[in-house]
Amino acid sequence: IELQRPVDGQIVFDDPENLSFRVDRRAYTDDDVAAQEMTKIFDRCWLYVGHESEVPELGSYVSRDVGGRPVVMARGSDGVIRVLANSCPHRGALICSQSAGQARSFRCPYHDWTFSNQGDLVGVPLPDGYGPGFRKSDFGLARHRSDSYRGFVFATFDPEQPLTLTEHLAGATEYLDLIADQSEVGMEVIQGAQLHGARANWKLMMENSVDIYHFRALHKRYVSYIESLGTMAPRRRGGFARALGRGHGANELVPAAARPLAYWTPMFPPEVKSRMEATAARFVERFGAERAQRITGANRALMIFPNLMIIDAIGITIRKIDPVSAGQMSITSVALAPQDEDPDIRELRKSHYLTFLGPAGFATPDDIEIIESCQRGYLNRTLRHSDLSRGMAKEVPETTDELPAREFWRQWDRLMHDGDDREENHHLTQRAERQGGQRR
Ligand code: FES
Ligand code: FE
Repeated sequence: IELQRPVDGQIVFDDPENLSFRVDRRAYTDDDVAAQEMTKIFDRCWLYVGHESEVPELGSYVSRDVGGRPVVMARGSDGVIRVLANSCPHRGALICSQSAGQARSFRCPYHDWTFSNQGDLVGVPLPDGYGPGFRKSDFGLARHRSDSYRGFVFATFDPEQPLTLTEHLAGATEYLDLIADQSEVGMEVIQGAQLHGARANWKLMMENSVDIYHFRALHKRYVSYIESLGTMAPRRRGGFARALGRGHGANELVPAAARPLAYWTPMFPPEVKSRMEATAARFVERFGAERAQRITGANRALMIFPNLMIIDAIGITIRKIDPVSAGQMSITSVALAPQDEDPDIRELRKSHYLTFLGPAGFATPDDIEIIESCQRGYLNRTLRHSDLSRGMAKEVPETTDELPAREFWRQWDRLMHDGDDREENHHLTQRAERQGGQRR
């Protein structure tokens, strides 16, 4: 597989026959690879923008960068959620400088052009300065193609993107359903996002977020703390990793007393337990025992290519990951919860989020430190490749296997080489791996 410029030769070495999967480390460090990712992945793919609950009212908006582009996700006065370019069609200034709010219109601070919350240009000061050919309708905010699945809003900057959102999501819809089904009235993002970053390539955070192999080693401190409290039963756990097609992957750790919140964390007060169990019992009424068990009885990490991670474990953490440069990324982190949650459980959820997967929790600082350490390690160019072959020999890869990361890289490789994304690749990778494994 060749990249014409700038990296000579192969980047992804996918060899199911020999159960070997390696990635050239220049994929994490090379500025030209990062530039090509922008045009071949972030300018074309469906990208996660936010959750519908972040814009609950007419006129609610959030502004953020998605795939390196400033956008505004706004619910117009007509009730429709749009993803608008946050750049004035006049001379380019950001038309919205607040991270969130509610407005009937956006006024560009440079020359006061005013746009409705649906993106139309509605006011231009001193309009007699323009000729007869100047039409306000030619100068609305750019509207990006967007769509949502069960409350999760995505956009693509490629009007010609051949896939619908649902086609792009492929097998990941199964996991988004498992999350969205956790409330009868709907899920909501808990107000307030945490914006942070890492001096590491964005793909390292995607890989890390779906990597369970590191848990016992890297998060020793947390594991031994929990074990010292005796709140986590030391039973044997199983689980599996899955490739979900089009670069998406997941792993599931079972059994786990996980819904609505993990029972085993140190913050868990016994008096709330019966209310938690009552909530879990309602899942059985709604979905029957089997599906209820699937929803409540597992910890999950879901990776949606290229920029979304949902970790549905101790609570639900959503991470939107954006490249800044080859060696730098920004991360937006929020917690998702049932809208109709018991207030005491909600308080616990917030502390679970902050104390574990938040940027200053037990886990995330370890993760960021280690991926920054990987990025530094790549400076020693003697070692050309990273290995991601764990679990290739298995019929059903376990949670600690690297199947989701391989699925991510296979899609990365296809898109970086202008592969036809319409071609159905769902589950092909697993089959290929199994054949390789059997031949062995
Ligand atoms: Fe926005 Fe001039 S740049 S009004
Ligand atoms: Fe971790």
